[in-house]
Amino acid sequence: MTNTIQIHTQTINKTVLTGITTTGTPHLGNYAGAIRPAISMSAQYKHNYFFLADYHALIKCQEPARVLQSRQEIAATWLALGLDTEHCTFYRQSDIPEIPELTWLLTCVTAKGLMNRAHAYKGAVDENAGDDPDKGITMGLFSYPILMAADILMFNADIVPVGKDQVQHVEMTRDIAQRFNHLFGEHFTLPTVKIDEDNALLPGLDGRKMSKSYNNTIPLFLPEKQLRKAIMKIVTNSLEPGHPKDPSDSSLFAIYKTFATENETANLRKLHTDGAGWGDIKQYVFEHLNSMLTEPRLQYDELMQNPAKIEAILKHGADKARAASAPFLAKLRNAVGLKYFV
Ligand code: TRP
Repeated sequence: MTNTIQIHTQTINKTVLTGITTTGTPHLGNYAGAIRPAISMSAQYKHNYFFLADYHALIKCQEPARVLQSRQEIAATWLALGLDTEHCTFYRQSDIPEIPELTWLLTCVTAKGLMNRAHAYKGAVDENAGDDPDKGITMGLFSYPILMAADILMFNADIVPVGKDQVQHVEMTRDIAQRFNHLFGEHFTLPTVKIDEDNALLPGLDGRKMSKSYNNTIPLFLPEKQLRKAIMKIVTNSLEPGHPKDPSDSSLFAIYKTFATENETANLRKLHTDGAGWGDIKQYVFEHLNSMLTEPRLQYDELMQNPAKIEAILKHGADKARAASAPFLAKLRNAVGLKYFV
């Protein structure tokens, strides 16, 4: 992996932006698929905005204690894994009042028909099959892509790294931006999506893609003993020790190689083909992941016990973000006719 020293050249003069919905506890798949690529992009690109999408969290979660906890966990996770907040702007969506304001300006130019086509909304309607199609569907869920468009357009992002499930939202953002530009002048950059392929490749405990919704994740900062327990639970075939094992049919191999150098990966490949027992392979994978996570885990625990430290970092991020969003929103207000009279 990855434990290379980041060199901050930041030579590419573009803006990268991505949000993390603050529900649930971050896991190894989030690290490989979102956190690690974002941290490494922030070393290359000039402007980087990473934020906790806590307004989005309210769409899915109406338990205040969970929303609160998850925001803190996710902030602590990004910081513990080495996000350098001098080289990016790291903030909470809900600390930027210009975002909901922009959401409204965009809502007023977004066709309802566009929102009707959103996968997340359609999925929710499909689940109501035979029942009232609107059952359990809030306006928050229906308008979710407009809030996401505001997140992206607020900072005129060029590149938006997201999982595959979010591609449609970035396309809708382009549509909405074009409509606004057409009506009110060229204010918005049209963003480009960047899909991180690693995300799809990391298997979970049951061999399916590691995902909160399958309940098969390995949380990043489990205490050592529980991490070992989790890895011991990863499903394998039933080949006995002494039988060669196919690395391409091994979740343990797939997980390991995501976080290992080529040489290390070659060693684990050899253990498979030499017929090591699954127990030994699991122990090997555990030791590697544990040593990779030991230092960040200490930092994570320290941050979780020190919410004031996280708060100060996020406040600082919000100040940086608002230095851009406040004057930009003032311009947009003027553009739509919400000017001061004198
Ligand atoms: N909806 C995204 C997700 O669930 C999170 C998100 C919110 C986001 N706003 C964004 C991602 C803006 C990229 C850009 O993963």
